[in-house]
Amino acid sequence: MAAVVFLVVLSALCSFTGLELAHAQDAPITRHYKFNIRMKNVTRLCVTKPIITVNGQYPGPRIVAREGDRVIVKVVNHVTNNITIHWHGIRQLRSGWADGPAYITQCPIQSGQSYTYNFTVTGQRGTLFYHAHISWIRATVHGPIIILPKRGVPYPFPKPHKEVPVLFGEWWNNDTEAVIRQALQTGGGPNVSDSYTINGLPGFLYNCSSKDTFKLRVSPGKTYLLRIINAALNDDLFFSIANHTLTVVEADAVYVKPFQTDVLLITPGQTTNVLLQAKPYGPCTTFLMAARPYVTGLGTFDNSTTVGILQYKTKQGQSNSALFNNLPITMPTLPALNDTTFAANFSSKFRSLANSRFPANVPRSVDRRFFFTVGLGSSPCPKNQTCQGPNGTKFSASVNNISFALPATALLQAHFSSQSAGIYTYDFPSMPLIPFNYTGTPPNNTKVINGTKVAVLRFNTSVELVMQDTSILGAEAHPLHLHGFNFFVVGQGFGNYDPIKDPANFNLVDPVERNTVSVPSGGWVAIRFLADNPGVWFMHCHIEVHLSWGLEMAWVVLDGPLPNQKLLPPPLDLPKC
Ligand code: C2O
Repeated sequence: MAAVVFLVVLSALCSFTGLELAHAQDAPITRHYKFNIRMKNVTRLCVTKPIITVNGQYPGPRIVAREGDRVIVKVVNHVTNNITIHWHGIRQLRSGWADGPAYITQCPIQSGQSYTYNFTVTGQRGTLFYHAHISWIRATVHGPIIILPKRGVPYPFPKPHKEVPVLFGEWWNNDTEAVIRQALQTGGGPNVSDSYTINGLPGFLYNCSSKDTFKLRVSPGKTYLLRIINAALNDDLFFSIANHTLTVVEADAVYVKPFQTDVLLITPGQTTNVLLQAKPYGPCTTFLMAARPYVTGLGTFDNSTTVGILQYKTKQGQSNSALFNNLPITMPTLPALNDTTFAANFSSKFRSLANSRFPANVPRSVDRRFFFTVGLGSSPCPKNQTCQGPNGTKFSASVNNISFALPATALLQAHFSSQSAGIYTYDFPSMPLIPFNYTGTPPNNTKVINGTKVAVLRFNTSVELVMQDTSILGAEAHPLHLHGFNFFVVGQGFGNYDPIKDPANFNLVDPVERNTVSVPSGGWVAIRFLADNPGVWFMHCHIEVHLSWGLEMAWVVLDGPLPNQKLLPPPLDLPKC
């Protein structure tokens, strides 16, 4: 017995030394990027329109860094709209000033101004993405963030032959700023997008788009790492490649226990790395890949499908398009639009690696418990106006019946300078003020309150948060995203959460660790996180229209006692409101 223990210790020491060496040889580096935000005419579906872009690219350019690197991005605003950029999923340890949500951590970058985002990638590797975080500008301003492991540190899965970002989005023929402006004015739902896209391309099932179809060329027998990002505004998406099985290896820049699936489900704000093993098919064999929405409730969607082409290369590595044109191509099978059973089964397959190299540091004990209802509701129509929301009201959305009102100045600035008066209040309720049957027939007194309220956490508080969908306007899945932290998804279920019975089934051993989780339609999800990052952290539904309607709140995490537990002062170029 003693000998076995000794061997284990010795091997642990050896691998530790190896890592240290690799580290010493390859110190983290600083990577500089410049984002010029400017208009660019782009044509899709035979419609040419000016869109807001990063450096004239749609989707935007990639950010590539290794774990441990510092990333510095100078953003220069050449358009008339206000802009901010959010580095979705980056932990931003003590660098909350670089997080990016408008009026939460910064005032927007005004036309003609610039701001330099400066952050370090700590303890993360995988795929994330960046996007504009003001109004609906993220519709066109978004791109992949690729975080490679430290040099010399392998992936915990076979090394892929190639890595390919696969980014889902939505295209509107009209100006998206006008779409949301109109929706907020009338109180009704916004116009749905005109297509879903893969890497900015609608695919040939849409009008006028045969040239605008994403093609992935593969060599037989090789393994490809697809870095999948859902940057769509308003829809969860199913994705599948005909005749191929995908192996999921990472979610939200955290490795997971690999599992195989024919169909992937990904919510807005989530990222997933999958391995695609190319089969021994002959040259020019082609298959379709396809994505279309998963929708519950009143979703803003249409039932169209975006497709891309998987094509096997010829021996010379060249594809023969003449040959391809004559071949039949196979369409993958996707679940029904409202397949909530698939959604529940699929999300329960995600597990942390939870091994010695990649432990799952799940908070075992809980200092503070929160119970939040999330869902849609309505607010009264202003006098002398007709509204197009439910029963002549305006659509609204809330957490614990509080619909978040964006302040006129950034919360983080107010917090840092201890000047919350008139900007926000500290009384975000830790549970609904009036409990009701959340997933049953709603009572009449569910009118939302508008307010800018935050929940305050002492440094290093261990938090358990249960998020409960409501059926006030019909049950609906909501992808909740937390800024500044990863959390562990310790439990989920349908119906109303039962605080007595449900915790017994929580997984505290290998729950998935992520930054965006779907609150199941007509159900609940329980997460845990450690509030080890001082600052003001936004939490919201990543369905953009729900965010516009107020389905969000903010956490204030206070400084800790030690010098390295305090939020740093703001950068000198932090934009002013
Ligand atoms: Cu990707 Cu606050 O969002």
